[in-house]
Amino acid sequence: MMPLPEFPESYWLATTKSPSYDKLSADLETAFAVIGGGISGITTAYLLAKAGRRVALLTANKLFSGTTGYTTAKITAQHDLIYDEYIQHFGEEKARLHYEANRDGGAFIADIIREHGIDCDYAEEDAYVYAVEEANVAKLRKEAEAYARLGIPGEFVDRIPLPVAAKGAVVMRGQAHFHPLPYLIHLAQEIVRLGGQIFEDTTASKFKEEDGQVRITTADGHEVVCESVAACSHFPFFDNGFYFARLHADSSYVLALKTDFAYPGGMYISADDPKRSIRMVEYGSERLLLIGGESHKTGQGENTILHYEALEDYAAETFGRGEIRYRWSTHDFATLDKLPYIGQATKGSERLFVATGYRKWGMTTGAVAAQLLTDLMLGRDNRYAELYGPSRFGADPGVKTFVQQNADVAYRLVHGKLEWLNMHPDDLGPDQGAAVRIQGHRAGAYRDAEGRLHVVDTTCTHMGCEVAWNEGDRTWDCPCHGSRFDYRGEVLTGPAKKPLKPL
Ligand SMILES: Cc1cc2nc3c(=O)[nH]c(=O)nc-3n(C[C@H](O)[C@H](O)[C@H](O)COP(=O)(O)OP(=O)(O)OC[C@H]3O[C@@H](n4cnc5c(N)ncnc54)[C@H](O)[C@@H]3O)c2cc1C
Ligand code: FES
Repeated sequence: MMPLPEFPESYWLATTKSPSYDKLSADLETAFAVIGGGISGITTAYLLAKAGRRVALLTANKLFSGTTGYTTAKITAQHDLIYDEYIQHFGEEKARLHYEANRDGGAFIADIIREHGIDCDYAEEDAYVYAVEEANVAKLRKEAEAYARLGIPGEFVDRIPLPVAAKGAVVMRGQAHFHPLPYLIHLAQEIVRLGGQIFEDTTASKFKEEDGQVRITTADGHEVVCESVAACSHFPFFDNGFYFARLHADSSYVLALKTDFAYPGGMYISADDPKRSIRMVEYGSERLLLIGGESHKTGQGENTILHYEALEDYAAETFGRGEIRYRWSTHDFATLDKLPYIGQATKGSERLFVATGYRKWGMTTGAVAAQLLTDLMLGRDNRYAELYGPSRFGADPGVKTFVQQNADVAYRLVHGKLEWLNMHPDDLGPDQGAAVRIQGHRAGAYRDAEGRLHVVDTTCTHMGCEVAWNEGDRTWDCPCHGSRFDYRGEVLTGPAKKPLKPL
C-alpha cells in the first residue's frame, strides 16, 4: 500500500482548485440562509439566488469538505436494488414518483451543464447492478420486473462487459457521471454573481425562531437573521426533530487506480456482499478506474486499513495490478425507511427546512432536494413534497429500523464507556493510534511519524458516544451518528460542532 496521506486524498479535491470565501465576521441580515457547502446547499442557494432572493450560504470548513468532495459522482436513478422494495413498502405510485424525481434530478444537472457550458467530464453511460452469487440473481429479476412496471428504461441481461463472473445484471439505460466540483464551483460563482453571499469556516450552532424570524447563531457568536433556513449540513445542525434517532451513517472506501485495463464503458455496482462499485474517470490524459465498496457503519469498521487492502486485492484480481493514485473514505446517512428526508424539518416550524438521508445517492437526490427546498421556501407547490416530507410516518419498515438503530446507538454509548482497554500510549509505534488507558481513564492516543504523542478525550462532543480510531484514514470516528475528528481532535465532519478535548 502507498503511504497514508494525513486525511484521505479525494481525486475530486486533488484535481480542482476551489475559490475561497471569507468567514462570517459580523451579524448578518438576509432573506434566506442555507447551511452546508455540498451539492444540496450550493444548488439550493443557487436556485434561491436565481429566483432573485437575497441568500447567504454558510458552511463549516471549506466548500466540498463534506461527503460531496469524496463521492464517486454517478448521476443515476439506479440507487442499487431498490424499486422492487419500494413497490412492496410504499406501493407502485410512490415508487414511480421516486424514480421520476431522480430521473428529473439527473436531467436538471445535465441541463445546467449544457446551458452554462460547464466543463466537468459529463458523460452518459448505462448503469448496471450485477450479481456474481447465484442467490442474488432472483433479486435482479424482480428488480427488472419493477423497472417494467414503473416504466424505467432498462432490463435484465445475462452478462456484463466486465471480467467478473456475473450471473446476470439489471441495466438502467442512459445514466451519467461527472466531475462534481467544476459543476458546483460554477454554481457557487453564480450565487455570488446573482448577489448572494458565501461564508466558509462558519459553523451554524444554534437555531431559534422568534417574532416571525429565524435567528442562527454561529460558533463564533455572530447572528444571522432571516425569513427561513435550509439545513443542508448533511446531519442537521439543529437539535429539533429527533434526527439523531432517525439517521444512521454508513462509511465506504474508494481507490482511484491507474491501470492498462481496456475499460468497456458503463457504471457498475454489485448486489453481492461485499459490494463493489466500478467506473472510469478521465484525468488529463490519464484514465483512472474508481473501485468502491467495503461499506460498514461509521466508527464500527475494526481496522479500516483492511478495507483499502480488500479493494486493492479485488482490483488486482479483476483488472490486473494498477498504481493507486488516490484513495479516500467517507460516509453518508440513511433514513429509517430508505427515502430521504427533504422538507419542513419539524411540524412545529414553517421556517426550518432540511435535506438529508441520501443513502449514498446524493447527486440526483441533492438536485431534487434543492428544487424541493426552494419551492417550499418560496411557497410554491412541488409534486415530491409529500413523498419526502420528514414528518411522514410509515410503520413498515420505519419502526423496525428505528428500534434497531437506536438499540445500536444505546449499545455503543454504554459499551464504549465500559470497554476494558489494555493498550497504553507506550505500546504505540510511529504513525499508530488507538483507544488507550491512562491512569485508569479511557483516552485516544496517536503517535505521529516523528514520535510525538497526541492524546484526546474519546467522548464525542455531539452526544457522548466513544469515538473509535480509524487506522486507514487517521481519524477518530463516532459509531453513533458519524462525526469524524482528525488525530488532534478537530472536527472534520459533524454533527459534532466542537473538537474532542485535548488531554
Ligand atoms: C463512498 C461514497 C460514494 C458515493 N458515490 C455516489 C455516487 O456515485 N452518486 C451519488 O449520487 N451519490 C454518491 N454518494 C453520496 C453523495 O456523495 C452524498 O449523498 C452527497 O454528496 C451529500 O451531499 P450534501 O450536500 O447533502 O452533504 P455534504 O457534501 O456532506 O455537505 C454538507 C456540508 O455541510 C457543512 N456543515 C455541516 N455541519 C455544519 C454546520 N453546523 N454549520 C455549517 N456547515 C455545516 C459541511 O462542512 C459540508 O460542507 C456517495 C457517498 C459515499 C459515502
Ligand atoms: S456523532 Fe452523535 S454521539 Fe458522536
